[in-house]
Amino acid sequence: MEVIIQPNQEAAAALVARIVAHDLRANPHLVLGLATGSTMECVYRHLVRLHQTEQLDFSLCSTFNLDEYVGLFPSDPNAYRHYMDRHLFRHVNVDPRNTHLPNGLATDLEAECRHYEAMIQRFGGIDLQLLGIGKAGHIGFNEPLSALRSRTRVKALTPTTLKQNAPLFGGEDKMPRRAITMGVGTIIEARRCVLLATGDSKADVIAQAVEGPITSMVTATALQLHPRCTVIVDEAAGAQLKEQEYYRWIFDNEPEWEGYR
Ligand code: F6R
Repeated sequence: MEVIIQPNQEAAAALVARIVAHDLRANPHLVLGLATGSTMECVYRHLVRLHQTEQLDFSLCSTFNLDEYVGLFPSDPNAYRHYMDRHLFRHVNVDPRNTHLPNGLATDLEAECRHYEAMIQRFGGIDLQLLGIGKAGHIGFNEPLSALRSRTRVKALTPTTLKQNAPLFGGEDKMPRRAITMGVGTIIEARRCVLLATGDSKADVIAQAVEGPITSMVTATALQLHPRCTVIVDEAAGAQLKEQEYYRWIFDNEPEWEGYR
């Protein structure tokens, strides 16, 4: 795992977008794993700008989102399909037929989860997976105690997650209590993972995820097992990390990051 500390949220999101742009230029057929949530909005803004000003081309790439609520129509403003259309898909030249999210309205949800896994396999696996992190340490909707080898399935949301996302729905009682999510095992099979966290509300959980012991209570800790995972934080989210000086030295000196400094 590598950790990059950026001065602020804008710089952190811009760096994630530049990594996506780099990988997409290197491989126009990139299979991109996407996340939603407020942290990612800034990344998508940067990607849209790169498309508009530097002709970043999405026409051949495919996307798979981490998760979707159970029971929401894609047109619902809180559905993750709606979020992706609003923040990215409708502003770039991705082929809508190559964009995938789990179908939270499927009558057979278990079959839908199996189908989603099979689709990822059929596309050759995910090349680059973007991740946020919840306040209780989830990646996707892999809530505490999710098996670290879990696959795409339906998960009940914890009180912490309900509280985190309820404002968007106008209250917890109006919010779905379940979601389809890629499993931890599915996520860590991606060839590269990039997790973005910003703001002081994420400082504690980032310290646990990066420097704490691997535990299913904080599913982001499973990323410590990943051979190519980069965690990008702003100063606020990185504030409780013990080895900040070491992380900064690596970013400032290792040739891998030369083009990104
Ligand atoms: C969303 C997802 C979640 C979010 C996480 C952080 O697709 O997978 O794991 O990334 O809950 O959400 P924000 O950015 O809203 O704090």
